[in-house]
Amino acid sequence: ISTEESLYRPNFHFTPKKAWMNDPNGMFYYNGYYHLYFQYHPESSVWGPMHWGHAISTDMISWREQPIAIYPDELGTIFSGSAVVDISNSSGFGEVSKAIPIVAMYTSSKKLGEGDNWKQTQSIAYSNDEGKTFTKYDSNPVIDNDNIKDFRDPKVVWDEDRKKWVMVLAAGDNIMFYDSKDLKTWNLLSNFGKNIGGHGGVWECPDLFKLPIIGTNESKWVLLVSINPGGPNGGSATQYFVGDFDGTQFTLDKDFETSLNNDHNFWIDFGRDNYAGVSWSNARTKDGGILMLGWMSNWHYAQKVPTETWRSAMTVARKVQLQKNENGYRLISNPVQQLASYRGEKYKKENIIISGDTKIIDTKTIDLASAEIQFNISDLTETTYTFKLENQAGEKLLFGFDNIKKTFFINRKQAGNTTFSEKFADRISIAPRTSSNQNLSGTILLDKTSIELFFDNGETVMTEIFFPTEPFETLSINSNNQDFTLSSIEINKLNF
Ligand code: FRU
Repeated sequence: ISTEESLYRPNFHFTPKKAWMNDPNGMFYYNGYYHLYFQYHPESSVWGPMHWGHAISTDMISWREQPIAIYPDELGTIFSGSAVVDISNSSGFGEVSKAIPIVAMYTSSKKLGEGDNWKQTQSIAYSNDEGKTFTKYDSNPVIDNDNIKDFRDPKVVWDEDRKKWVMVLAAGDNIMFYDSKDLKTWNLLSNFGKNIGGHGGVWECPDLFKLPIIGTNESKWVLLVSINPGGPNGGSATQYFVGDFDGTQFTLDKDFETSLNNDHNFWIDFGRDNYAGVSWSNARTKDGGILMLGWMSNWHYAQKVPTETWRSAMTVARKVQLQKNENGYRLISNPVQQLASYRGEKYKKENIIISGDTKIIDTKTIDLASAEIQFNISDLTETTYTFKLENQAGEKLLFGFDNIKKTFFINRKQAGNTTFSEKFADRISIAPRTSSNQNLSGTILLDKTSIELFFDNGETVMTEIFFPTEPFETLSINSNNQDFTLSSIEINKLNF
């Protein structure tokens, strides 16, 4: 097994066995399996003519890669899109085999001449074998387009209130809304987003879903929009909007609109490595949350990261809910509960005095490249709480909370190989804290090349990748000259 495999192949994040991957696509749940398709270029480790790769899982954590599901054709290469379980056979694609059809909708993207010129139209394909193979519809494209430059990433959702299919599509600087009765004929309803929210780059990969507000009987509609560049810490990131959808038009909630205008801080994840995420179709948690994952990279440097056999991983699958408190609306994300069944050895300690650099644990006790950490600090003081992962090579990854500036941070400047791209370690990533709690709690997921931070029960999330030249061996916490008590820490080895 090569050094690249042993050093960088994640323990519990999905990667294709070989070649280039970007966005998650066509995610749906059916008959015991979660399906994950993905933007895939099987011939190389950089982006190229797109296919839909495929993987399946019973728990969204352990994935089995499957044969490529959709190949390019005369209409173009297969860009991002979605898939739905057409339970009532509204499309009629189930007639032949009597199986419930799975209908995928994606962007056919065809290069026109030289340069960055594409014709992007929307096409559909159906599967009568539960998502293994797809047949393209013979009247594609179902939405033609001759003049919009960036016109892509259809996400189809079932609108239960109106009993119809609704589709959101990114169109450069806004989202277009469509509806359909049969998934073949689409009517343009409205658009949303010109001059609203972040516009530092092109809008991509939208999603639309209705979420209950935790602890109430109310619900709100949420629109996700990925943007590249223009993310809060540079490059690619996913923003969200909270509002209402009346079957035709999406309008911002008034309170949300005020907060958005004051300070646009509505990002699913403030780290630099969670992009183009959308939800699983036909799947919800018991309490009505959606399930999603994202591409764990960033267009700023994705094609240069130091793995050659494969490129890119997905984030861990997350449950996303909507919260409303005195600070307004907030999407909260946490790892899916299925992850807990992989817990192995446990290290647990309470009331640890942190004084200067204080070592918590090393990799001999629990492998720090396959771990879940939960911590709590009950009385915050005016200091910076810095967690540090280190190895023998003197490389370190720093992350934590600055309680003077009230910001979370990840600093990967010295976390190993960073020279492959100027933009990779050009800055420390930060995220403003939204909670005004006097205590701080968090969940930290550590894999060989990634960290996922879920602070304040998922109110603020940060995901980043890194490439140490040897595994990180110790975890310590620094008190920045002001001793404090770490109220509790629990570290679980995750076994796969
Ligand atoms: C987002 C994206 C999508 C597009 C796909 C192409 O990362 O640019 O808008 O469909 O990647 O691979």
